Amino acid sequence: MRVPLDGLPDRVEIYEVGPRDGLQNEKAIVPADVKAEFVARLADAGLRTIETTSFVHPKWVPQLADAEELLAALPPAAPGARRPVLVPNERGLERALRNGVTEIAIFGSATESFARRNLNRTVDESIAMFAPVVERALAEGMWVRAYVSMACGDPWEGDVPIDQVVRVATRMMDLGCAQLSIGDTIGVGTPGQVTALIEALVAAGIGVDRLAVHFHDTYGQALANTLAALRAGVTTVDASAGGIGGCPFAESATGNLATEDLVWMLHGLGIDTGVDLAALAATSRWMAERLGRPSPSRVVQALAPKEQ
Ligand code: HMG
Ligand code: MG
Repeated sequence: MRVPLDGLPDRVEIYEVGPRDGLQNEKAIVPADVKAEFVARLADAGLRTIETTSFVHPKWVPQLADAEELLAALPPAAPGARRPVLVPNERGLERALRNGVTEIAIFGSATESFARRNLNRTVDESIAMFAPVVERALAEGMWVRAYVSMACGDPWEGDVPIDQVVRVATRMMDLGCAQLSIGDTIGVGTPGQVTALIEALVAAGIGVDRLAVHFHDTYGQALANTLAALRAGVTTVDASAGGIGGCPFAESATGNLATEDLVWMLHGLGIDTGVDLAALAATSRWMAERLGRPSPSRVVQALAPKEQ
């Protein structure tokens, strides 16, 4: 049943991260042709923005070492659809350009501990690494997103002050990025904190139309946090089909908010997503079989055909 609430958008853009954030932290290494089918099925289910892979060091993330092979196997994106990939440095950008990529995401950290573990750099060094990437990407006409991770807490440093997140986010956006995704990498944030963080980012000059939210569901807060973000004016929400994945360099990061759980809530609120929920859940069940474990998404489980 669709019952709208005042103060929410009519439409939400879902930024699907299953093939990248999902598969990067699954134990199973999924063959490139299965990943390509996953992306194609997600697109057929109505997802217009799909982050497909990462051009990072293959030793750091072996699950995504087949980035070139995957991109070659993908069906072309529909007009206006986006297929961003993660790029940390100039080497990654070279690889992306050689493979016809037109949208990238750089990924920084609000904390020194995670910058070191994820990028082998301090926060300053990682921003210096991103600067020439964004400059060249913009010159090539690419669309560039920036992630700021550990925005709601850090497993080594604990609480992360809001002004620290805002400082790093502002520096990344000042490079010329089109969108900022607020990453609660370990899923510890709660709705009041999310609201305060969005208000602080907007007060610092990052328009709410340029913000996206990226919640992991470790503490079961992802949907509540999403609703808080929507109330604060955000209209782009990251999610991972079937709720798979996490981050291999952050202790206690479980899967992202499941796309199906997000779509269930949004459709219930009368918010348009363009997604066919039944087709999406069938895709996640198909992927779960290939990963050899059931989908953690509550909606995927609830919609599963009952055994007679
Ligand atoms: P490094 O070891 O400092 O690299 O790693 P380097 O610059 O010293 O280079 C060492 C060698 O690696 C060189 O080769 C480079 O060419 C090569 P050599 O000359 O010795 O033969 N190299 C590369 N090869 C292929 N592709 C590349 C590349 N770069 C260098 N792009 C580096 C630094 C950034 C490369 C490494 O730390 C890395 O790959 N990190 C990526 C980690 C990652 O992908 N983490 C997961 C994603 S982040 C996340 O999940 C959070 C997010 O979801 C949001 C949230 O939840 O908050 C986005
Ligand atoms: Mg993530």
